[in-house]
Amino acid sequence: MKIKMLRNGIFFYILLLICDTQLNAQTKIQPDNIQNKMQWFADAKLGIFIHWGIYAVNGISESWSFHNKEISYQNYLQQIKGFNAEKYDANAWAELIKYSGAKYAVLTTKHHDGVALWPTKESNLNVVASSPAKKDLLAPFYDALKKKGIKAGTYFSLLDWSNPDYPGFLKDSSRYQISDNPQKWSRFITFLNRQLSEIMEQYKPDLMWFDGDWEHSAEEWDAAGIRKKLLSYNPNLIINGRLMGYGDYETPEQNFPVTRPQFKWWELCMTTNNNWGYQQKDTAWKTPYEIISIFVDAVSNGGNLLLDISPKPDGSIPVEQINILTELGKWNQRNGEAIFDQLGGIAQGHFYGPTTISKDSTTLYLFLQGKASGQIMLKGLDCKINEIEVLGNGSKLSHKIVGKISWSKVPGLVYINVPENVLDPYITVLKLKLDKPIRLYTGKGGL
Ligand code: GLC
Repeated sequence: MKIKMLRNGIFFYILLLICDTQLNAQTKIQPDNIQNKMQWFADAKLGIFIHWGIYAVNGISESWSFHNKEISYQNYLQQIKGFNAEKYDANAWAELIKYSGAKYAVLTTKHHDGVALWPTKESNLNVVASSPAKKDLLAPFYDALKKKGIKAGTYFSLLDWSNPDYPGFLKDSSRYQISDNPQKWSRFITFLNRQLSEIMEQYKPDLMWFDGDWEHSAEEWDAAGIRKKLLSYNPNLIINGRLMGYGDYETPEQNFPVTRPQFKWWELCMTTNNNWGYQQKDTAWKTPYEIISIFVDAVSNGGNLLLDISPKPDGSIPVEQINILTELGKWNQRNGEAIFDQLGGIAQGHFYGPTTISKDSTTLYLFLQGKASGQIMLKGLDCKINEIEVLGNGSKLSHKIVGKISWSKVPGLVYINVPENVLDPYITVLKLKLDKPIRLYTGKGGL
């Protein structure tokens, strides 16, 4: 956990240092047709993350619990005997994901504990060989996603604390140093690459979501080689940013950007309570309102939200998470027009809330947080509003221009009157049709 905190700290420190420059995760890579292949990801806005693993049996933290010595390694692995997947219904999962409005899903194929959810030929530490589930858990899920037109993501931990050829193990002990035993390390790299080949060949993902890169350098992992190899299977594969500089987009975790990140593509990955995996004792659920407002905030800042759910060992999804995804889905049905396929919003200062704009920039969407009725204000809008509609409700609203001086170039303030009876139970969206592509006045007033 300390490492995680340090990593997050470093991430935001770096973010601050470079906040003026447009930065992509792929700083070390060739721009292999990246703009085209990233388009579906940029339009997708919402993905569902799924942490499913043996850690759900005792309800303890995924892999970190033995690494941080909260439980012995032996007792941690014992959990595999209780991982039965008895109620696993991949179609129902895909159905729920579709209903939420998400356009992609990322499932943990193998976490840092090394337990694979598919019958890898490389190790017995997989749920088919060693758990009562006894079946490949990936195939039905990726089939179900494909049938529903949802993009398929495979989470894969580069580091593998169970593999005897991997140096790292417990937080204060490691098996060896790479410099002392390069053969051992190269055996591990072969193992890792073979597992990646299995995933690419058998499940044909659209997105590879790496994790755990921080324990070794790009050179040690041969990150360039891994990227090249994956793209040889699928040139359109999108790779997240946790490949030591060889990914396509950034993946801040749990923490919310306050200023707009300058990354071209980014995704906030976040839990629905405080843990990635299922933990019965964790009841700190975020409410649907909180989830929706975080989602809107990420999208208005040009990013996606990858929202985590954590099935139980039998494969059933906690009812609280079903509720969150259902409420999110209903909200998206009413308001998704303002989210999907749109662009992050206008600069801060014009409107005190999140916004998005259409790709032709003739439509501006305003998101009203909380129970925001009454007069809302927009500053510096240097074009005319043809129509204002409340999404999901159809009501048309009137507006008033205040303080426009005939001889001044400074636009007047726009006041929109929002009656209480048009409010969405969560976040209300106003759709402003403009007379031309949006122009904004950003000066200091009539100086
Ligand atoms: C971290 C953790 C891990 C979790 C992941 C999700 O890097 O190590 O437990 O799966 O983030 O983003």
